[in-house]
Amino acid sequence: MARKHIEPFVDRDVEFKRLGMKGIPSGYNYKMLSIDEDSGACTMTVQWDSGYRQPPSVSYSDLEIFIMDGEMKVGDTIWRKGGYFFVPRGVSLPAFSTDKGCFALVMYNDTEPHIVESDADMDGADRGGLVQLATYDEMPWQVPTLFPQTATGCLLKLLRFDEKTHAMTFLYTMTPGFQQDNISYHDCAEEAYHVWGTSWMMQFGDLPTGGYFWRPAYVNHGAFYSEHGILGFGRTDGELHNHFHWNPYSNPEENADRAAARLIRQKPELNKWMFTHDHNHIDFEHPDEQYSADSESDRIHSHIHEHMHKHGIEHSHD
Ligand SMILES: [Fe+2]
Repeated sequence: MARKHIEPFVDRDVEFKRLGMKGIPSGYNYKMLSIDEDSGACTMTVQWDSGYRQPPSVSYSDLEIFIMDGEMKVGDTIWRKGGYFFVPRGVSLPAFSTDKGCFALVMYNDTEPHIVESDADMDGADRGGLVQLATYDEMPWQVPTLFPQTATGCLLKLLRFDEKTHAMTFLYTMTPGFQQDNISYHDCAEEAYHVWGTSWMMQFGDLPTGGYFWRPAYVNHGAFYSEHGILGFGRTDGELHNHFHWNPYSNPEENADRAAARLIRQKPELNKWMFTHDHNHIDFEHPDEQYSADSESDRIHSHIHEHMHKHGIEHSHD
């Protein structure tokens, strides 16, 4: 099940609520930005009260944290704004505490928010996948190397890149006066939060500080403009290819058809192979995993699959 298309949403318009989930100490306040109502996976704006204390813990979900203000002591290290963590499921996070309070984005990628007290990793946990970055201090802004490219003045810091799925977590800026006059969509869901600044988009208007969207695959977005620039935090759940065009009236099904037509034109042999019946696609680099045409459909968030089921259309492998 996919998260709903949420765009635009501004967290400054709603109040914090107390998070009273299992294992979570008091002093954990949240605003829900988006949620998968089946799994509980979600993205939240979080304010930890001054004096918040959390024991060493694991969770059954990949967890991402991006600190936007205040400070958080994690183990012996104090993290301030710009601090980013990707904690793979089952990897133990040291005790954390804050004397001054801490304002952050928190993302549970697989389950509802929870913690399980533990100072040891769970069996099979991928400690090598742990990411900890002081993104404001240590990392230079880079011109994106994604092609086709966005307009001049959009810069990136890549925080995490999943080699298997090409899902990404990144910071991005639009420099003052940034404009891009075409329309874009992607084969993946795209999520973003404005840490600071306002940008305008043709379909959804102004997105200010605290603005957020969760946008499923194949939804048109752009043109863009930002008078004073923005600093944003973004994620995708698959490879970010910019399908650019100039038709403001195309819908997600038409956009997906166009992407499929391009794939068939450009990789005709791969297209034929993908639709070979009674055939799983086994990746010799990942021999324990098998892929069919619909094996990843729950991971990528796109509403065209709901559309297919709603209309009684089944995949050819079903
Ligand atoms: Fe986009």
